[in-house]
Amino acid sequence: MKAGSKYIHAGTEPDPSTGAIMTPIYQTSTYVQSAPGEHKGFEYARSQNPTRKALEEAFAVIENGKFGLAFSSGVAATDAVIKLLSPGDEVITGNDLYGGTYRLFTKVFQKFGIKFHYVNMSDAGSIEQYINANTKLIWIETPTNPLMNITDIEAVAVLSKKHNALLCVDNTFASPYLQNPLDLGADIVMHPATKYLGGHSDVIQGALMMNNADLREQLYFIQKSCGAVPGPMDCFLVLRGIKTLHVRMQRHCENGEKIAHFLRNHPAVSKVYWCGFEDHPGYAVAKKQMRGFGGMMSFTLKDESVENTRRVLSSTRLFALAESLGGVESLINHPSSMTHASIPREERIKNGLSDSLIRLSVGIEDVEDLIEDLNRAIG
Ligand SMILES: Cc1ncc(COP(=O)(O)O)c(C=O)c1O
Repeated sequence: MKAGSKYIHAGTEPDPSTGAIMTPIYQTSTYVQSAPGEHKGFEYARSQNPTRKALEEAFAVIENGKFGLAFSSGVAATDAVIKLLSPGDEVITGNDLYGGTYRLFTKVFQKFGIKFHYVNMSDAGSIEQYINANTKLIWIETPTNPLMNITDIEAVAVLSKKHNALLCVDNTFASPYLQNPLDLGADIVMHPATKYLGGHSDVIQGALMMNNADLREQLYFIQKSCGAVPGPMDCFLVLRGIKTLHVRMQRHCENGEKIAHFLRNHPAVSKVYWCGFEDHPGYAVAKKQMRGFGGMMSFTLKDESVENTRRVLSSTRLFALAESLGGVESLINHPSSMTHASIPREERIKNGLSDSLIRLSVGIEDVEDLIEDLNRAIG
């Protein structure tokens, strides 16, 4: 099946008791047993829920994986992956990561004895020097949030296999419509379903997808033992969101391309970070591993003063000034004070994330209105 047909039918069967075409929201905490241990496969809702089960099947299908697991947020899904590790284990990850991922790694897991190496992942060949016998996981985000750097997933997968380390890809910016890391050799894909999968800025949720049954068992054990599971209503919302992922992503890509070019040609704009430009350093890899370039981009203004940056951020009318991304509505964000504020300033600046960077999540409104809005705000 092609992507659109898969997204519409993934995980959903007519409800056996009524024929309802939409998966019911099983709003229950427990299930009645006919005798101790005799049940219909559902014992307690932290461990199993039929709405979540349908969604987890859909998660697997949309990433061309065998298994999916749902979590209460993207960071809860990330947390579950790191809990596969033990004190003394080492992780190689990017130096340009979502701020919440960086905070989880540095402020929560580092003190349990897990060592993280933050390296430039744009050149896969330079990663091997950080690998040693303790390296158990390589964690990549591509394209990165917010600098749109690209990592060659296939090349890193070769390395991770050679050294018996797991490879997990945070596939947020691309979505499964544009990039499928499991097909490129990754072991686990992580999505904040909060973003493009849900697509309507109305839910917080995380997803893990994988092919290996043992890995699925270990992650399921962590899911039920640590308990960061999403409620059934949220599972329903994400199941519904997935059905329109392809049409939304097509429009995100079309609008994204037009806005990236508009910004690049604007006399008051300095640099535009978007991986669809042929002169972007990761363009060739992005073209190889993605089916489009999406609706995420960042830019700086020629007048990089704090006042001017804040003025533009506060002047848009259609682009809402807010954290998050991937919804139908366009958002504008100031990474250094909002989504990436948890990264120490000197770290951010060293890795290219300046105080004047502005990030856009281009929505699926009419692009002429979006351009007019930006044009007026930039002035
Ligand atoms: C790239 C990336 N990964 C992970 C997350 C975390 O997702 P959540 O907010 O659902 O916990 C985000 C959130 O913005 C993100 O942008």
